[in-house]
Amino acid sequence: MPTIIFHAPDGTIHKVEARAGASAMETAVKLGVPGIVAECGGALSCATCHVFVSPEWLELTGTASEFETEMLDDAATERTPTSRLSCQIRMTDELDGLELTIVPEQ
Ligand code: FES
Repeated sequence: MPTIIFHAPDGTIHKVEARAGASAMETAVKLGVPGIVAECGGALSCATCHVFVSPEWLELTGTASEFETEMLDDAATERTPTSRLSCQIRMTDELDGLELTIVPEQ
């Protein structure tokens, strides 16, 4: 099971095990990681699952689709070059150890 390390805005670290095939957002919500609101439940219509991907993981997590990019433009926390919507990051064994920082405001 791939592990995800979530960094909360207050510096707290949440290390959780994800099911391969689940999204990073689903994993956070299911395991009670605070700060991922996920209002739309993963339908790519809320941008309240915004995270910053640690730079060393960017290649493996891939890039945001055009639509995801548009959603990130309207996110409550200003997007950065490492911004993704965590409902669009599908966990695989390759992503074991993935580090995501939860944005301060969703
Ligand atoms: S959960 Fe709504 S866009 Fe990700």
